[in-house]
Amino acid sequence: MAPRKIIIDTDPGQDDAVAILLALASPEEVEVLGITAVAGNVPLALTEKNARIVCELAGRPETRVFAGCDKPLTRTLVTAEHVHGKTGLDGPQMADPTMPLQDQHGVDFIIETLRAEPAGTVTLCPLGPLTNIALAFQRAPELVEKVQEIVLMGGAYFEVGNITPAAEFNIYVDPEAAKIVFDAGVPIVVMPLDVTHKALTTRPRVDAFRAMGTKVGEMVAAWTDFFERFDKEKYGSEGAPLHDPCVIAYLIRPELFSGRHVNVEIETSSELTLGMTVADWWRVTNRPANALFMGDMDAEGFFALLAERLARL
Ligand code: RIB
Ligand code: CA
Repeated sequence: MAPRKIIIDTDPGQDDAVAILLALASPEEVEVLGITAVAGNVPLALTEKNARIVCELAGRPETRVFAGCDKPLTRTLVTAEHVHGKTGLDGPQMADPTMPLQDQHGVDFIIETLRAEPAGTVTLCPLGPLTNIALAFQRAPELVEKVQEIVLMGGAYFEVGNITPAAEFNIYVDPEAAKIVFDAGVPIVVMPLDVTHKALTTRPRVDAFRAMGTKVGEMVAAWTDFFERFDKEKYGSEGAPLHDPCVIAYLIRPELFSGRHVNVEIETSSELTLGMTVADWWRVTNRPANALFMGDMDAEGFFALLAERLARL
């Protein structure tokens, strides 16, 4: 089967970085048409730079990286240096990238790609706030129906919030953008905290990365050693949740995940629950199902896939 053509929209972020590595290590299943950076974990100047650092680490400096939006559609940017560090890739020392940033704006790249590619052949993989995707849909509404699928990391239901008691970070940063995306009618697969909090980098798993004896293995281990502090302190968990790689793993081995096709609405007005993904998991309303909302995953299978693919780089 031909690889799926994808655009990764991202705010690296250590977990975004692992997702990008997994995608670039899996050419049989995914063809990365481009990577669009968005402001999120850290400001745009850092997320676009970090995306290029990761592509060079993967040995893929020819990958096209674009800078997208530097702030949410209407709100002030909220960042997460408390989780990812000042650079967004804290942990190991990383050299500045030498590969170029594309001149074209990331949103224009998304629009141009959807216009040029046959309908139903491009999957969008947002790993950060949904600003770039929403703006592309606003600027070119006629292209929305051409999107094959959106597979995104964001939201939470049973697991509730990680940036407020009710909201997950990616959705919270730009809830208006999330509403546009969830209302667009494109088939959506959601990897919420309910699932990603099961993808924990326990000590044996981090040791397995380090035991690869490669630069990639060493970097991933160093990133997770840094990135796990927040979640271990807050949740008492056994390691860092590898949120974003779940999106790419789904494209490679969807059977690792299970969920329900339900209605998901985004709270955009209440200050108390702003950015909450209101998932009708028990189907208590008649609101139409608009997303495959994941609820469980095979964590062992996920890490086995990750280790196998990262060892290729
Ligand atoms: O809430 C977790 C999400 O927010 C992940 O995508 C992480 O990288 C941050 O963007
Ligand atoms: Ca992210």
